[in-house]
Amino acid sequence: MALRVSFIPNKIPAFPGSDLRSHRVSMASTLHSPSIEVGDVRKPFSPPREVHAQVIHSMPREKIEIFDSLRDWAKNNILVHLKQVEKSWQPTDFLPDSASDGFHEQVKELRERCKEIPDEYFVVLVGDMITEEALPTYQTMINTLDGVRDETGASPSPWAIWTRAWTAEENRHGDLLNRYLYLSGRVDMRQIEKTIQYLIGSGMDPRTENNPYLGFIYTSFQERATFISHGNTARLAKEHGDLKLAQICGTIAADEKRHETAYTKIVEKLFEVDPDGTVLGLADMMKKKISMPAHLMYDGKDDDLFQHFSAVAQRLGVYTAKDYADILEFLVGRWEVEKLTGLSGEGRRAQDYVCGLPPRIRRLEERAQARKQGVSPVPFSWLFGREIML
Ligand SMILES: [Fe+2]
Ligand SMILES: [Fe+2]
Repeated sequence: MALRVSFIPNKIPAFPGSDLRSHRVSMASTLHSPSIEVGDVRKPFSPPREVHAQVIHSMPREKIEIFDSLRDWAKNNILVHLKQVEKSWQPTDFLPDSASDGFHEQVKELRERCKEIPDEYFVVLVGDMITEEALPTYQTMINTLDGVRDETGASPSPWAIWTRAWTAEENRHGDLLNRYLYLSGRVDMRQIEKTIQYLIGSGMDPRTENNPYLGFIYTSFQERATFISHGNTARLAKEHGDLKLAQICGTIAADEKRHETAYTKIVEKLFEVDPDGTVLGLADMMKKKISMPAHLMYDGKDDDLFQHFSAVAQRLGVYTAKDYADILEFLVGRWEVEKLTGLSGEGRRAQDYVCGLPPRIRRLEERAQARKQGVSPVPFSWLFGREIML
C-alpha cells in the first residue's frame, strides 16, 4: 500500500555529476541550519536535512510470504557469506598498538607515511569514513524492509541474523578509518565528528519504500559502489607511498565485495521466483536513481557538502558517474536481465529500460563532462578550511 505525503522539491544528486542530467528525478527535502542552543529546552531538535515525500509499504502484503518461504534458502545460501568472528580482522590489526612501548614510534611512522598524501585525497577518505560511520542509519534502513526486518533486535530469522552480523562486520570499517584519520593528524576531527552526528541525525532516503525487492537492489548496488571506491582509495594510497593505508582500504573493499556477493545472490533468487516483480523493482530504483547513503551530509557550514565531496571523488576517479553506469551494467549482466522470459508487457518494458540504460547514462555523462567549465576551489571544514579544487 503506497502512501504519499507532502512534496517539497529540492535537488539532491544521486551520484557524482547527476544534477547535470536531464532524467534526474527530484527528491523532496528541506535544508536548514539548526539553531538550537545548548541548554535551550524550548526549541525541539530538528535535523539539518529533512525528507518529506516518502512512499511506504509498496510491496503487496501477500509477497511477504515469498520472504518467509525463503528463510531456509537464506540460511544455507546467504549466511555462508559471513565470516566467523574468530577469523575476522579487527581495526587493531592495522593500527599502532596502544598497549605497546613502541606506540609513539608507530604513530610517528604512520604520520610520516601519510605526509606525501595530498589534501584532496583526505577529502575523499574522510567522506568515505563518514559514510561508513553512519552505519546505524543503514541497519535501520534494512530493518524497515517488510518480511525481512529484525522484529525483536535478536530475532532468530536468517534475514535478521544476516542483518545483525552484516552490521557487525561493517562496524569495523568506520572504526578503522576513523582511528587512522585521527592518528594521521591531517584532518579536523571535531568537524568530522560533527558531520557524523549531523548525518546520523538526518538519516537517509534511499526510496526503498519498506519494499525488500527495492531494498536488496539498493544494497547490491551500494556494496559494489563501496567496493569500487575503497578499492580506488587503496590504489591511490599505494601510489602516494602509504602501503599500510592501501592495505586498510583494500581490506575494507574485500568485505564490501563479499557483501555484494550476498546481496546480489538474494536479488538473483528474487528474479528466479518472481521475475516480473523483480525487474519492475530494478527499473523503479533506476528511474529514481540510487542515492548515495550519505546524501544528507552536512557539517554545519557547507550546504553543498555532499556535492562537493562527490565532485572531488569524481575528479580523483575514486567514484564516478562512469562507475555508476558500470555497476548497473554489471548487475544487469549478473542477473541476466536480458535473458528473462515470460514477462508481462510492463515487465518487458522495464527489462528494455534497464538493459538500455548504461549506455544512455554514459552518453549523458560524456556530454556533462564536455560542458564542465574548469575547476574551482572550495574550503573543506574537515581540512581546517583549506581549499580543494573541485
Ligand atoms: Fe563498509
Ligand atoms: Fe558495505
